[in-house]
Amino acid sequence: MAANVTDEAAVAAAVEATVLAFGGIDLVVNNAGLSLSKPLLETTAEDWDLQHDVMAKGSFLVSKAAARALIEQGLGGDVVYISSKNSVFAGPNNIAYSATKADQAHQVRLLAVELGEHGVKVNGINPDGVVRGSGIFAAGWGANRAKTYGIDEQDLGAFYAQRTILKREVLPENVANAVAAITGPDFSHTTGLHVPVDAGVAAAFLR
Ligand SMILES: NC(=O)c1ccc[n+]([C@@H]2O[C@H](COP(=O)([O-])OP(=O)(O)OC[C@H]3O[C@@H](n4cnc5c(N)ncnc54)[C@H](O)[C@@H]3O)[C@@H](O)[C@H]2O)c1
Repeated sequence: MAANVTDEAAVAAAVEATVLAFGGIDLVVNNAGLSLSKPLLETTAEDWDLQHDVMAKGSFLVSKAAARALIEQGLGGDVVYISSKNSVFAGPNNIAYSATKADQAHQVRLLAVELGEHGVKVNGINPDGVVRGSGIFAAGWGANRAKTYGIDEQDLGAFYAQRTILKREVLPENVANAVAAITGPDFSHTTGLHVPVDAGVAAAFLR
């Protein structure tokens, strides 16, 4: 089911179709996103609105529609936000993207408190530097970053790895594995948490 997450009616229809197709809903992952890297003075009001519409508002609408179904089912469930290292890390040329990631991060805490009484856990993942398979990186962000660092775009993943504590490249499956773990039985008593999946970035340590 495809849906534009900025469209409340489309999101509600997608959740309804999902429930009808699968007999219910267990797990919601707020992953939709895009990234514009611009300094403050070049960031337009339209840039700001687009970033916030898709990520802050989009995940709010998806969580709302899904929570309605989860509460009605009465079986608990999970909501996971793919937030970002940038929700806590402050770097240049990132005002619209990082601000909306911080918004998503606080939605995790707010909804963890609100949905807990229904047995619904709400957690977040903070990835960083996932180049492989990323439409965001393929659509210009990667070329921009590579140029900034004076390297080939194809070497960006390895370059990011060298900036981490573990010196490991972060791959899409590392993010998916974290989602599987945080929604699995081993974390049955954890809600309101953010899990970094960034191979270790001290500046983004959570306090
Ligand atoms: N790649 C990274 O290094 C990185 C790091 C931290 C966080 N993230 C976050 O991970 C998520 C996935 O990013 P990715 O790197 O895989 O990029 P991606 O472009 O591969 O995936 C983003 C997806 O969101 C979808 N999308 C965009 N606007 C939408 C809308 N209005 N309605 C529905 N879907 C929409 C796109 O079609 C795309 O499939 C994003 O929220 C991103 O901010 C990525």
